Amino acid sequence: MNSDIERVLVSEEEIAEANKRLGAQLTKDYAGKNPLFVCILRGAAMFMMDLIKHVDIPMEYDFMDVSSYGGENTVSTGDVRIIKDLDTSLLNRDVVIVEDIIDTGYTLDRLVDLFKTRNAKSIKIVSFLDKPSRRIKHVKVDYNGVKIPDEFVVGYGMDYDERYRNLPYVGVLKQEIYATK
Ligand code: IMP
Ligand code: MG
Repeated sequence: MNSDIERVLVSEEEIAEANKRLGAQLTKDYAGKNPLFVCILRGAAMFMMDLIKHVDIPMEYDFMDVSSYGGENTVSTGDVRIIKDLDTSLLNRDVVIVEDIIDTGYTLDRLVDLFKTRNAKSIKIVSFLDKPSRRIKHVKVDYNGVKIPDEFVVGYGMDYDERYRNLPYVGVLKQEIYATK
């Protein structure tokens, strides 16, 4: 698998540093609030599990699966579907949406709108990666791990056609991987 990677964009050390920093900030900002962390499956699963080890206050978490584009496509369509909804009510909750990466912004824009209709007390976003140059929908990312250039990345939960999620770092795939699909 490592041999399919052109280069590493975010190393394991940088990931650990980002998680520590974000966790400490969230610990401070959410003290006394019992926040509900909402992990957006499947990409953000690895990130959330590392992040919350650094969140040193009472909290809860739940999972939601949405899809903005399927299979091999690497471009968002703006069509966001709910595959699996939350089991937890958002009424009066301080919600922290946990995303792997914000790209066009369509996914988070839709989710924030949806969560507002469920009467959350507050809604904030933590995104491990941010590709600001690709934004179409303006979305406020309250907590960001690392900003990256406009490149399709895999690893640390993120996939290309469901593969490479288990890489412990974030990397860019070799061009030939797409070419031979
Ligand atoms: P957005 O709706 O365009 O902001 O896309 C957000 C979603 O697209 C993320 O949650 C990811 O699942 C996926 N995505 C965007 N860029 C990448 C990438 O470079 N690698 C893997 N998945 C990506
Ligand atoms: Mg995602």
